[in-house]
Amino acid sequence: MDKARTLEMTRIKPGARVLVAGATGYIGRILVRELVARGYRVVCLVRGPRGAGSDEGDAADPALTDTEVHLTDVCDPRALSALDLGGPPLDGVFSCLASRSGGIRDAWAVEHRANRNVMALAQRSGARQFVLLSAICVQKPLLAFQHAKLAFERDLIQSGLTFSIVRPTAFFKSLAGQVEAVQSGKPFTVFGDGELTACKPIAEADLACFLADCLTTADRGNAILPIGGPGEPITPRRQGELLFRLCGREPKFRQVPVRVFDVAIPALAALSRLVPRMADKAEFARIGRYYATESMLSWNPEIGAYDAAATPSWGTATLEDFYRHVLEHGMAGQELGQHKLF
Ligand SMILES: NC(=O)c1ccc[n+]([C@@H]2O[C@H](COP(=O)([O-])OP(=O)(O)OC[C@H]3O[C@@H](n4cnc5c(N)ncnc54)[C@H](OP(=O)(O)O)[C@@H]3O)[C@@H](O)[C@H]2O)c1
Repeated sequence: MDKARTLEMTRIKPGARVLVAGATGYIGRILVRELVARGYRVVCLVRGPRGAGSDEGDAADPALTDTEVHLTDVCDPRALSALDLGGPPLDGVFSCLASRSGGIRDAWAVEHRANRNVMALAQRSGARQFVLLSAICVQKPLLAFQHAKLAFERDLIQSGLTFSIVRPTAFFKSLAGQVEAVQSGKPFTVFGDGELTACKPIAEADLACFLADCLTTADRGNAILPIGGPGEPITPRRQGELLFRLCGREPKFRQVPVRVFDVAIPALAALSRLVPRMADKAEFARIGRYYATESMLSWNPEIGAYDAAATPSWGTATLEDFYRHVLEHGMAGQELGQHKLF
């Protein structure tokens, strides 16, 4: 029997019981709503009543309505092995876990070890498929969180579970950091001339649909799936021009040379040898340099360059739609948290 036919027979249809780790995160919350709307029985793992990373207190999270919520610590393998989910076995598992800080230790604790703990729970609970929210940037890994993500991707591929490793390009929210500044009359800041990188950003709701579809789409099983949004790739300068046009103002840019990172990174790295807690600051500077200089598009090894045409497109929402919405309604719900640079 060929691979497509085998996967066709094992599709996980609405009504099945699926678990979401990272259910309180930006994508996790939208994914949970999408799965509930499709008729899945959704089990959420959370570390606090409203997520320990949230500033919003203990109010019950409306995103988790109509789901089974289990409080646990995904970073503690003993807590997860003692966790009794009750009910019928799981059919599928999603992980939208991500380090909130992006620091080196936290990246390995969450992106690698916590995901391994969730994978062990998936295996113990009878799940057939594991859908991982990863990132397109792991194709060119230079940063701690990318190495941690890749280490887990390798573990997952070897696990025997049907895997879907979804590697999105930039989320819309990650391109929204300067909307309020531009709206209030400030210039749009770019690195270099603003044309050093490009991405095909994807709407969070479109990404949630893509993730949910992995349960029922035969060719998304045992696959690594880079995914971007619709339309042409966009550079930071074009993002700025778009924002100024929507605000009805003349474009005004502030250009920052990439070499600021080339000064900051070695200085912070040297300092971290004396003051270990500075290691994360050096890593944040490396993250900044990465996103200032690397495109969020598929890397084409044959031409040795990023390749927009080779980056699959998905969804219908455009960055222009999103900017219009934020300009009209503000950034509520788009909190960037510690991920400002990613
Ligand atoms: N931003 C982008 O443009 C972009 C692009 C491509 C890919 N990605 C990838 O997309 C993924 C998810 O992004 P996101 O914005 O949805 O993430 P997020 O909002 O930061 O959510 C992270 C989730 O992980 C949980 N978590 C983090 N640390 C934890 C810990 N120590 N113990 C228990 N739970 C923990 C959080 O729980 P709490 O609510 O309790 O903190 C939350 O549910 C990341 O892997 C990222 O690399 C992002």
